[in-house]
Amino acid sequence: MTVRRKVAVLISGRGSNMQSLVRACAAPDYPAEIVLVLSNRADAAGLDFAREAGIATAVISHKDFPDRASFDAAMDAEIRRHGADLICLAGFMRLLDSAIIEAWRDRMINIHPSLLPSFRGLKTHERALEAGVKLAGCSVHFVRPDVDTGPIIAQAAVPVLPDDTPDSLAARVLEQEHLIYPMALRMVAEGRVRVEGDRAIVEAPVE
Ligand code: GAR
Repeated sequence: MTVRRKVAVLISGRGSNMQSLVRACAAPDYPAEIVLVLSNRADAAGLDFAREAGIATAVISHKDFPDRASFDAAMDAEIRRHGADLICLAGFMRLLDSAIIEAWRDRMINIHPSLLPSFRGLKTHERALEAGVKLAGCSVHFVRPDVDTGPIIAQAAVPVLPDDTPDSLAARVLEQEHLIYPMALRMVAEGRVRVEGDRAIVEAPVE
């Protein structure tokens, strides 16, 4: 029988990566289930998808809290109330304080639309095009206090084409995001990812 890790997915908007995780979790042998989709924005489109999929949702707006620490604490409490023991950031666009990041060390993962450590932060596709790189991509990594840093679990690369715009490049990268995030969560949920220093070591599945 598959033991399923309980996952909270944090979003701020469209939620297409969250949707790819929900779809993966529908497979009977997938080692994780989503127990909560939490958004800091009530108008996040992804919330409707989650509700229709029968997943518990919550909205905790950063605007209702005086500082980052109290906002993080409210999210942490809600995540634990749902019994989650892994957190997936999926287009969650608020910075988190180091307290919540350390509390979930090696149990909080993020997807970022660049080949880290290149192009951390916002406007990754614009900056990749400006830099003239010939490969772009996406990374899934354990979260550390510095933004878009942490041991890299999985990456995928795509070509940058001569007539790319930020939108066309983003769309090509997003297709890969939807493949590698469920793959990376599977590896983590199966306990196959070990952290050594700044590196994540992935072990082969047991046959
Ligand atoms: C995704 O491309 C994700 O990698 C990016 O936001 C998008 C969210 O789309 N995340 C970041 O830039 C975080 N630094 P989605 O809501 O459709 O998953």
